[in-house]
Amino acid sequence: MATAFSLAHYTLFSLRTSSLFLHRRRNAFNHFSVPFSSSSSLSTTDKRKWRRPVVSILELGGVKIAKDDVVRDDPTNNVPDTIFSKLGMQLHRRNQHPIGILKNAIYEYFDTNFSSKFDKFDDLCPLVSVKQNFDDVLVPADHVSRSYNDTYYVDSQTVLRCHTSAHQAELLREGHTHFLVTGDVYRRDSIDSTHYPVFHQMEGFRVFSPDEWEPSGLDATSYAAEDLKKCLEGLARHLFEGDIVKFGKQLKYVHHFEYLGYEFNVKENWLEVLGCGVTEQEILRRNGRPDNVAWAFGLGLERLAMVLFDIPDIRLFWSNDERFISQFCSGQLGIKFKPFSKYPPCYKDMSFWINESFTENNLCEVIRGVAGDLVEEVSLIDNFTNKKGMTSHCYRIAYRSMERSLTDEEINDLQWNVREQVQNKLNLVLDETFLASQNV
Ligand code: DAH
Repeated sequence: MATAFSLAHYTLFSLRTSSLFLHRRRNAFNHFSVPFSSSSSLSTTDKRKWRRPVVSILELGGVKIAKDDVVRDDPTNNVPDTIFSKLGMQLHRRNQHPIGILKNAIYEYFDTNFSSKFDKFDDLCPLVSVKQNFDDVLVPADHVSRSYNDTYYVDSQTVLRCHTSAHQAELLREGHTHFLVTGDVYRRDSIDSTHYPVFHQMEGFRVFSPDEWEPSGLDATSYAAEDLKKCLEGLARHLFEGDIVKFGKQLKYVHHFEYLGYEFNVKENWLEVLGCGVTEQEILRRNGRPDNVAWAFGLGLERLAMVLFDIPDIRLFWSNDERFISQFCSGQLGIKFKPFSKYPPCYKDMSFWINESFTENNLCEVIRGVAGDLVEEVSLIDNFTNKKGMTSHCYRIAYRSMERSLTDEEINDLQWNVREQVQNKLNLVLDETFLASQNV
């Protein structure tokens, strides 16, 4: 992680505060509708490769992982099957997938501007220790992100990494001074068009030695901060093809209470895409670089790709639908996604009395477990406490497929299953009076 540092006023960006990790906040994201074009640029072999079946033994970054290693019926484990099925998909390593195209475009920027000095890693195993994920990057012992509600634990000492920062310390110890780490990261979260429990990040890390900052007359921290700012502005220009007007309109610098970040503007809503800062000296000290200074950033690739490719819903990145995947081409950042369907969402409400262990993330996981990617959004629409002090929540679930129209029967089945699981898995009592007024 990084110490927050203050910056002089910056014309393109404005400031505001937020939480430690990216991807925690809810943001509305508008849908675009443009007619479908059926251009296809993939060979048959490529298409076949993309349909890999879910296997039960995976090899990730040289580590063999069986399903039983990750999903276990044990109170210290909260990884559902749906999450296991995402391990090994490695969207960021597919050159024709928007996430892979974006990764390669960022690589190109760093290779060109830093004479290929940045070492690149995109196959590090997403199973990491609690120490790597939290302690090594100085996440406080009582930080909310460590909770079972926010992070997927394989056992009490092992997690699915919730950020690529989990690899900072080991890479520093191995002697790397300039590096980019791309990978899938996992977070328990709410459901809407910009949140998905698996997404991709790219970590950037650069170490400076005294002979770099001393001649500048700046102190080490200011030097690193200036360099980081220049590097990220250059990256944004590279991705937005130097279109400064568009860039200025879409990007602002924000000052979070623990780090700095960038947000993108999507139709008047600001979307957080990047956390960054000058690294805590303690991280460098612990990992063999006491006399250096460094900057780091963690970039959320889906959100950036949503802006760059006009992709309206984060679920689409996981689609195998030919009409989605055939629209993108290796090396082409400029392509705009043309929606091929716009089926109306179907809304179902459910109401229940909450108990002290209820959390929205647990509810969302149950709903995703039943409906998978057919659930588009889950939102709290009513919340009241009766005279006895019991609190009832009413949630609205939006079901919509990105690929086809759903039948009433199918949606009613999903909703009944959700209701059952909410009672069985979360031990919640449904508010039947409310249900009586609903047409399910
Ligand atoms: N790991 C942070 C996140 O997932 C992003 C980040 C990376 C913040 C590096 C920083 C940093 O301050 O130095 O949101």
